[in-house]
Amino acid sequence: MNPFKVISIVAVAVVTMLPAPLHADSTPRDFTMETPAQREQRMAWFNRARFGLFIHWGVYSVPAGEWQGKTNYGEWFMEETKMPVSQYEKFAQQFNPVKYDAKEWVRMAKDAGMKYIVITSKHHDGFGMFRSDLTDWCIKSTPFQRAPLKELADACKAAGITLCFYYSIMDWHHPDWGTRRAWNDKATGEPDMDRYVVYMKAQLKELVTRYGPLGILWFDGEWEKPWTHERGVDLYNYVRNLQPNIIINNRVGKGRAGMGGMDKGQGVGDYGTPEQEIPPTGFGPGVAWESCMTMNKHWGYNQHDQNWKSAQVLIRNLVDCASKGGNYLLNVGPTSEGLIPGPSIERLAAIGKWMKANSESIYGTKASPFERLEFGRCTQKPLGVGKTRLYLHVFERPKDGRLVLPGLANKPLKASFLGGGGKLDVAAGENKVVITLPAELPDQHDTVVALDIKGITHVIKGS
Ligand code: GLC
Repeated sequence: MNPFKVISIVAVAVVTMLPAPLHADSTPRDFTMETPAQREQRMAWFNRARFGLFIHWGVYSVPAGEWQGKTNYGEWFMEETKMPVSQYEKFAQQFNPVKYDAKEWVRMAKDAGMKYIVITSKHHDGFGMFRSDLTDWCIKSTPFQRAPLKELADACKAAGITLCFYYSIMDWHHPDWGTRRAWNDKATGEPDMDRYVVYMKAQLKELVTRYGPLGILWFDGEWEKPWTHERGVDLYNYVRNLQPNIIINNRVGKGRAGMGGMDKGQGVGDYGTPEQEIPPTGFGPGVAWESCMTMNKHWGYNQHDQNWKSAQVLIRNLVDCASKGGNYLLNVGPTSEGLIPGPSIERLAAIGKWMKANSESIYGTKASPFERLEFGRCTQKPLGVGKTRLYLHVFERPKDGRLVLPGLANKPLKASFLGGGGKLDVAAGENKVVITLPAELPDQHDTVVALDIKGITHVIKGS
């Protein structure tokens, strides 16, 4: 090979890998102008990961969902009870999560097959779970004299899990948030959004620069009037100037269309955020999204909420997201002692057991080529040169034991259960492929059949 070519390839690779220089005097870059190729490279880890842990943890875990006989509260406690801010602040004095073990949380997430963790650094109540120099309304004011986010950052780094921070734009505690609540008895004067943005940016700088590189900044609370598209674009660029390769969700801007979570009209941010729902279909290549969901009915800890989804539902939700080209961000709400609730631990372990045998059918896969499959879902991946592997997720075994892939025009090469078992009988019909299943399937939650086919998947629609 021509040595000059080698040197220039190396030079290009080095230049594209270097973070953008950031000097005090450098002009901030407009990152909304990024090319599709740059974006694809930046989003690559996210699009491969498919599965993350959401953690909603704050001083609202002290009342644990209960107040004056009502038991349905969570992280919206302050707003829903209309408790004066001065009274709510007292929860901080009772927040002492001495049983918190960051390594153990990270181990649980990793064993469940999760690749990233998004934790609330500040929720709508404005309380910082980190030691901020800008306010006392943070972990500094609790008896817990440790640094929970720093501990989590260290544990994530050691385990190879990507750390991400949730940060609420809306702030019910800060006197300058534009729609100040009547029960904010601590605030005086008029709210000033420009001043608020200065505060928020300074806190974000602490978060982005003190915990090592972050995977995602997960904004929320963007829907109230004082937040505007222009402010969203400015914040997006601010954070990316601090860490150019960071990923930012679409809740930084005003484009999100309700709980469906995708942008309509003018949006900013890198991916859509469906909440408590999985879209009926994907959105095609290049459109990234992540469904966030609770395991019971609350994000923050609620001691009375025992409405747990089964492990089977959670596994199938993860598969459903992957089959539509999206990620699944599954939530836990730890207690004020620093413990993840037992039923959540059990479910994470059950998902982990399934992932141990089947994660190949999740990580780095692409969306299903089929519009609909009676028996379940499909994900796929290129397999070396000239071959594709289809992962057929069998939720319901067809009564006649025949797994029919309508419209699949490729030549089938071989089929077998993922994670063990002999070959399955596979036959090509006219524009369809049929696999014969045994009477009993190995996994009650989702048995995955790996089907290798020749070439790039070709499905004739309407078959
Ligand atoms: C919401 C809620 C919030 C939760 C979030 C998770 O919009 O306001 O409490 O943190 O969704 O997606």
